[in-house]
Amino acid sequence: MQEQDIIEKTELFVRDTLQHSESGHNWFHIERVWKNAKHIGQYEPVDMLVVELAALLHDIADSKFYNGDETIGPKMARNFLESQGADTAIIEHVIHIMENMSFRSGYDTPSFISPELQVVQDADRLDAIGAIGIARAFHYGGYKNREIYDPGIPPDLHMDKEAYKKSTAPTINHFYEKLLLLKDKMNTNTGKKIAEERHSFMEKYLQQFYAEWNGEA
Ligand code: ADP
Ligand code: NI
Repeated sequence: MQEQDIIEKTELFVRDTLQHSESGHNWFHIERVWKNAKHIGQYEPVDMLVVELAALLHDIADSKFYNGDETIGPKMARNFLESQGADTAIIEHVIHIMENMSFRSGYDTPSFISPELQVVQDADRLDAIGAIGIARAFHYGGYKNREIYDPGIPPDLHMDKEAYKKSTAPTINHFYEKLLLLKDKMNTNTGKKIAEERHSFMEKYLQQFYAEWNGEA
């Protein structure tokens, strides 16, 4: 099958599968990550087919909605790509990216790394910061019925993977526990540059937030 064909088929498959998913991980998230990945990938030594397929498939099954099972997404992606007759080497690479790219696996030593993984990881991380990242964080917090902010509950920078998953802290804490740390985890130069801008936007946002909270703005 032509590369363009398999990308189009994958796009349709993902759109269809994510039709009813919540808005943090819906098709629009995938579309933004896919665009980011194509933009970042053009300056990196990558196989763009692998980058595009991994960007499209990376959230096909969020473990949060499958009792924490992190193997469902890679299995679904493998089944789909096999059904399309994709190259074995391509399939393996895409699966490895999916298994190794989340911030959560950033707690463990990565068992796999490639320029393609680095591009898709940057693309996904960019969607967690800046204006979109702020919107997604408060959306997620609302979905989980969390407070916006509580000055009496400080951020916890030393949570392990389980504590992070179980945390019920206010959404503002998530900025310190994850979002403001992402800029320094970017892999590519293009990703870093975009992250810097989105990062300073979040810093300005927080300044304004506290000023308003304290009746100073
Ligand atoms: P990923 O994009 O890597 O799949 P997650 O599934 O962890 O990331 O999160 C999806 C979105 O929800 C991200 O924008 C993330 O910042 C946000 N989010 C995750 N955990 C929290 C939290 N505890 N509080 C607020 N937002 C969160
Ligand atoms: Ni994602």
